[in-house]
This record gives sequence, C-alpha cells and structure tokens, in this order.
Amino acid sequence: MSKSEKKELDIIIQRKKDGIYIPLKRNVQAKNVSTFLEYVNLVHNSLPELNFDEIDIKTKFLGFEFDAPLIIDAMTGGTPEAEKINGRLGKLAEKCNIPMGLGSQRAGLRSDILKGTYSIARKNAPNAFLIANIGGAQLSNGMKFEDVARIIEMIDANALAIHLNPLQELIQPEGEPKYKGILQRIREISDKISIPVIIKETGAGISSDVAMRLESTKISALNVSGAGGTSWAGVEKIRAEMQRNENKESLGDLFWDWGIPTAQSILEVRSVSKIPIIASGGLRNGLEIVKCMVIGANTSAMAFPFLKAAIRSERYLFVFFNKIIGEIKSTMFLIGAPRISDLSKSRYILTNELAERVKK
Ligand SMILES: Cc1cc2nc3c(=O)[nH]c(=O)nc-3n(C[C@H](O)[C@H](O)[C@H](O)COP(=O)(O)O)c2cc1C
Repeated sequence: MSKSEKKELDIIIQRKKDGIYIPLKRNVQAKNVSTFLEYVNLVHNSLPELNFDEIDIKTKFLGFEFDAPLIIDAMTGGTPEAEKINGRLGKLAEKCNIPMGLGSQRAGLRSDILKGTYSIARKNAPNAFLIANIGGAQLSNGMKFEDVARIIEMIDANALAIHLNPLQELIQPEGEPKYKGILQRIREISDKISIPVIIKETGAGISSDVAMRLESTKISALNVSGAGGTSWAGVEKIRAEMQRNENKESLGDLFWDWGIPTAQSILEVRSVSKIPIIASGGLRNGLEIVKCMVIGANTSAMAFPFLKAAIRSERYLFVFFNKIIGEIKSTMFLIGAPRISDLSKSRYILTNELAERVKK
C-alpha cells in the first residue's frame, strides 16, 4: 500500500469511528422534530378475546419468515470497534431470527482487514438474513457493478440496501452531494442482481413522490427512515466543528431537524404504493413499532438503540431486544391483535399536525 493510500485509509477509519462515537457520546437525536407517532392513536380493546401468551409476532417479509417485526438497521463497519459491534449484532440476528443490516461497505472494498469488520456478522450469523449496504451517492458517482457484487459477496448477503443520504452528503466536510443519475443506477442495479434491493433513507424520510418514482424500478422494499431519531446533519455538524469547518457547521445546525417525520413518511408512501415498507427513524419502543405497522408498515427497524445496547454488552443486547418484544406483544394484546397480519386491519386515529399533513 502506498503512503497516500494508507493516508486515505486512515481517514476512512477515523470517519467510521466518528460515526460510532459521535452518536454515542454527543446527543445527535432530533431536537425540534419528532416521528409524529404521538399523533397516531391506537384504540384500546377491553374485550381482546385472547391470552397474552398466544400472541404470535412471526413476520413474513420479502418471502422469508422472521421471529419478530424488527430489523437491526444499517450502522457500521470499517473500524476495529465496528467489528466488535457487528459481531454482537450478528449473534442477536442469528439467535433471534431477525434481519440485520450492515453499515455502508465501501470501506470494506479498500482492504482485507476492513472487510473482516463486516464479514464478522456473517461468521456469527451463518443462517441470518443479512442486508448489504452501499450509498446512492457512490452509485451515481460511477461505482462499478463489480464492486456492488463484491459488497454482496463480502457478507454473502440476502438483500442489498442502497442508502439515500443527500442531507448527510451536503453537510459532511468531505461529502459528495452528487445525486444526478441516481434513479437510473437504482434501475440498473435492481434489474441486474438476483437478491432483493431495498431503498433506504438515513433519517430524512421518503415522500409519496419519491416512492412513485421508485415504483418504476424493480426494488423490493422501502425503508422510510424518517425524521425524529438520529440526525445525520447533527453528526456531520459535530464532525465539521471538530475540523473547524464553520460553513459546514452552521449548515448542519440549520438542517439538524430536516426531513419528513417517520409516521408521515409511512402514510405518504402507503397512500401511493403497495411496496413493502420498513418503518425506521426514531423508533424507541414496541408501542411505536406497532403504531407504524397499523398505519401501513410491514416491519420496522431501529439503529441507534441497538448501537447503545451492543456497546454496553452482549448480554444487555439480548435484554434490550426482549424488552422491545414484550412491548410489541403488550400493545398487540391491548388492541386485540393476536397476529402481525391483524395489525393492518386495526383501527387508528390521526390527530394534530399529522392529520393535517396527510389530509387529501
Ligand atoms: C451509528 C450509526 C451509523 C449509521 N450508518 C449507516 C450506514 O452506514 N448506512 C445506512 O444506510 N444507514 C446508516 N445509519 C442510519 C440508520 O440505518 C437509520 O436509518 C437511522 O439512524 C434512523 O434510525 P434511528 O433513529 O433508530 O437511529 C446509521 C445510523 C447510526 C445510528
């Protein structure tokens, strides 16, 4: 490896480290925007006619059956710390039969050492449904199809997520806010590869218009990843501050809460498309997950809460997961829904600004 390649690699490793420790050590959650799930009201059922221990949360998604309607959302890879986290998350995915997304894998193409920080997930989860991850900006900047294939092979992936992050690319000091030609690249990739392609946002939500444009491709699912949770404008604002880049820092402040709240995004996408939806962005408990599924999502995903739990300990990660499962089942008991397929038939009431925003 040449000196300049080594320097470039060090920069990538540092960026990946920042991507883990800034969310953990500084508060980069949404400030003045929420998921709007507080405006989704489920209706209490005092005659549920079911026993709590009969509630079945097995979830069909993309032709597979999982033990819960919850995905470990895409997070990390590319540093030794990430290897530990992905190793723990992989064990959870394997033992609990839930899907797991890996973080953006471009770094894994650079060196075999970095490759291992992703492939540890497959090592620990030989049977789990693993989702590979690449950035839309990299695709529209000419990433070759062979590299996409290598990314899939790196973790023997069951699906590929293409993340859309125009907000992050804009604020990131070394970002590449170039998205020209992205829809065509998504079309090409989804035509060419044999595993399902998932399009995901990264905290700013997907609108009905974007969902309609994506309908013209062969993608298999949309992860809305709306506003109300981790703010990538926030993460990059702090990185800009550390690099004394005042312009980017102030841009990060300005757009900290930018995006479509998660509940609004689910309702918007569902109003124009039957595509399977993954609810994500600011989900922090099982009640919120069930709300998302009642208003139109097929399953859900969490990122930051899994990171926090995984960093603490492997044991705590399982404790945390079981807590969320208990909350999902409790909500289903209280609305009288014994199975996941009952959720889309359950009644809900939208209030306040959410009701206003989705009014036809
Ligand atoms: C530490 C961290 C790293 C992330 N890295 C990626 C990534 O590499 N690729 C991606 O598609 N999304 C990434 N995300 C975004 C999440 O997958 C998710 O869409 C977003 O954080 C919203 O979920 P949350 O509010 O539960 O964190 C990352 C999130 C976190 C917290």
